[in-house]
Amino acid sequence: PVRKKDVLHLMARHLPKRTVQVLRDLGGAGDSLELPVYAVGGFVRDLLLGNENSDIDVSVEGDGIFFAETFAARYGCRVKSHIKFGTAVIVFPDGFKIDVASTRLEYYETPGALPTVERSSLKMDLYRRDFTINTLAIRLNSADFALLIDYFGAYRDLQEKSIRVLHNLSFVEDPTRVFRAIRFEHRLNFAIARHTENLIKNAIKMGFLEKVGGRRLLNELMQIFKHSDPIGAIQRMAGFGLLRFIHPDLVLTTENLRVIEEAKKVITWFDLLYLGQRVENWVVYLLALTSSLSDDRFWKMCTRLAVSEHYREKLIELRIHGEQVLEVMERRVAQHEPVVPSEIYFWLAGLTPELLLYIMAKSGNDDVKKFVSLYVTKLQHVASSITGNDLKALGLPVGPRYRKILDRVLAARLNGEVLTREEELQLATREIDQV
Ligand code: CTP
Repeated sequence: PVRKKDVLHLMARHLPKRTVQVLRDLGGAGDSLELPVYAVGGFVRDLLLGNENSDIDVSVEGDGIFFAETFAARYGCRVKSHIKFGTAVIVFPDGFKIDVASTRLEYYETPGALPTVERSSLKMDLYRRDFTINTLAIRLNSADFALLIDYFGAYRDLQEKSIRVLHNLSFVEDPTRVFRAIRFEHRLNFAIARHTENLIKNAIKMGFLEKVGGRRLLNELMQIFKHSDPIGAIQRMAGFGLLRFIHPDLVLTTENLRVIEEAKKVITWFDLLYLGQRVENWVVYLLALTSSLSDDRFWKMCTRLAVSEHYREKLIELRIHGEQVLEVMERRVAQHEPVVPSEIYFWLAGLTPELLLYIMAKSGNDDVKKFVSLYVTKLQHVASSITGNDLKALGLPVGPRYRKILDRVLAARLNGEVLTREEELQLATREIDQV
């Protein structure tokens, strides 16, 4: 039902001109080597859906590395190849990248031995994939440019908005596909097909998910949490009983669901502020989802997810610090004691944007939220104009009083007690004289 003409039309409509030209050039390189070349996978899926996707994956029926090198020589690109896998990345001078895979692999098992050659067709290559919607290919050779190849009913599933595996062992072969199914379901607004859902349940029941390594699990979770609204996907994971693979005690309660929902609001708020500060949304969601875990369990979870040692220590330290600050703030609000800006500043100054957003989401208290929001929008950018050199010039002997006096001056600046550099210097002088 989808003709070349339709594919060409979709290309013209959804792809930058340059991308279309690159696709034609890839086909041209294939022509001259007499190798069939295809765009495959997510790129084709998204083209048919009219979604943006600039990750071009190319499959060559033949030696993909040789193909990539030929193409690169012709168009002034670099190539990074992985001989063992028969894959290569073509890197354009401006950094644009194309992934190339071979459906024919040729490698040397031992030095000096004859190469082991594995031949397989495009169809075999596509059959190994996770879901039908990822098995589409577009032929790029000039004679058949833009010909859509659909061996496994992918187009029908795209129209039916259905996530469907190609065969019953798909989740056994690769249990991380369970998370991919949920991610695609939510990102594309599709539904996991009935039989595929049963296969997921079965794979979970049979314990295949336990085999997923920490790194890969974290990677899948990151991809899910990077979406602007991962709540549906999180509920779906909970529905399948997948949260226990993150930590055996992790369940979705009304409380952590509330924190996750708040996290979404504060992330949206933060994005709209355009502070030029990057925040890793996935960290905020991971913290929100696991907000009910004790420090000890959170640590175990980080270990399970193979979070790198350096990052793990930092994250745990910040989480503990953030929770303590949250407690202090909530206590102060409960006591109805006035809070001055400098206090807010020194409470929050050591926290990353992710932790700030997390404690904002976690606190159900509007005043606490206002504190954090004041810090994020204003206080964190406040600086006093005097430095250690100024104190030196005022005759203060080097020592721990430097930090104290600089903090005192900064506090005065934050609270509006001093407004100019002159006033700051006067205050510093008074402080120095006060022994
Ligand atoms: N794939 C798979 N099993 C996995 C991971 C990937 O079968 N566990 C296949 C998918 O069919 C996919 C292809 O490998 O089309 C490339 O993977 P990836 O780049 O992760 O997926 P995309 O479909 O391109 O998804 P995205 O749009 O999120 O990049």
